[in-house]
Amino acid sequence: MPDASDRLAANLAALVQTGRVRSRRVVEAREQGGVRLHVDGRDCLAFCSNDYLGLADHPEVVEAFCGAARAWGVGSGASHLISGHTAEHHALEEELADLVGRPRALLFSTGYMANLAIGATFAGRGAWVLEDRLNHASLLDAGLASGARFARYAHADVAALRERLGRRPAGAGALVMSDGVFSMDGTVAPLRELAAACAAAGAELCIDDAHGFGVLGPHGAGCVAAAGLGPEAVPLLMCTLGKAVGTFGAFVAGPAPYIENLLQRARTYIYTTALPPAVAAATRAALRVMQAEPWRRQQVLQLAQRFRAGACRLGLQPLPSGTPIQPIVLGPEAAATVASAALYERGFWVPAIRPPTVPAGSSRLRFTFSAAHSTDDIDRLLDALATLVQRGLFAGVQGT
Ligand SMILES: Cc1ncc(COP(=O)(O)O)c(C=O)c1O
Repeated sequence: MPDASDRLAANLAALVQTGRVRSRRVVEAREQGGVRLHVDGRDCLAFCSNDYLGLADHPEVVEAFCGAARAWGVGSGASHLISGHTAEHHALEEELADLVGRPRALLFSTGYMANLAIGATFAGRGAWVLEDRLNHASLLDAGLASGARFARYAHADVAALRERLGRRPAGAGALVMSDGVFSMDGTVAPLRELAAACAAAGAELCIDDAHGFGVLGPHGAGCVAAAGLGPEAVPLLMCTLGKAVGTFGAFVAGPAPYIENLLQRARTYIYTTALPPAVAAATRAALRVMQAEPWRRQQVLQLAQRFRAGACRLGLQPLPSGTPIQPIVLGPEAAATVASAALYERGFWVPAIRPPTVPAGSSRLRFTFSAAHSTDDIDRLLDALATLVQRGLFAGVQGT
């Protein structure tokens, strides 16, 4: 029998053979809201960050972080339920609940942990968890780890969801979890239809708005508010803070008894160190900037539209997204990696997204935009894409 190191070496060799080895680039410096990076000894323009509003290096956010680190120290020193829950965390929870119009909010160290907490707390043995097939891995893992009966329905197919909800035995609870904005597609879930299906079937609905919070809806309250839906329609809302808000962490917002259940029972809340208070303070500053500078939301959405229009003129058709995530599907994995490498050679960092992150045959370039980009940045990217189109790198894409 091979020993562990032989087995691990064989696992890695198998990955190399499938061409799916992942590697990291070391970012040596970043400027201009993180869109200009120094990587591998040279400069590049990045279209791969989720810092959609360019807040991660905003002077007021950085100053709030430094000031709070001086006041509170760097680490929180304990979990929330021991002694790690500071006035900064508490005020942030109140401000977040207010912003999304929910009675209470609870901070988590990451969105991944928040989703695991929701699955474990609101579903369990005997219940069903139903999820969109294209949900983020953290939601899928939450369903799998919950101990509930777990099933996925076809992407955005509310009729399929209804049918599955109707098949559950009498008395079985159900939790439906969906990305609000699908992270690899940029498209928004059919929120009104999902809410109606859940209400009709007596199921709980949880929307993960990692990519809509801060960008969509009134005051950046997210895709649920943008769809005109309130807390009755979507009782559980999970949003991350490491994307448009530019800091780190996540929160779940909902009715007080739901949030109190998470606080009392969720192991990924209870058994982990609280976020550093300086992160909470920086997040509070980022929320203030978000409100004071609504042009950031408009700017990022306009830049994404400028890119879409230019890409369509080149015969490339991004997925039908009205968000800062604009993917162009190339199909085969090699086509996406070759196009990504060719852009990188020209100084543009656009990641190739391949299985298992997306379904086989739908590998893509995933462009993400930021309010820190300029129109000139978008035009330079489009010029580079035009060169690649001429060289036939997008030959397999419909319309070219
Ligand atoms: C839709 C979605 N949900 C959850 C997460 C996880 O959030 P976090 O990075 O805070 O763990 C991400 C991305 O990271 C995401 O894209």
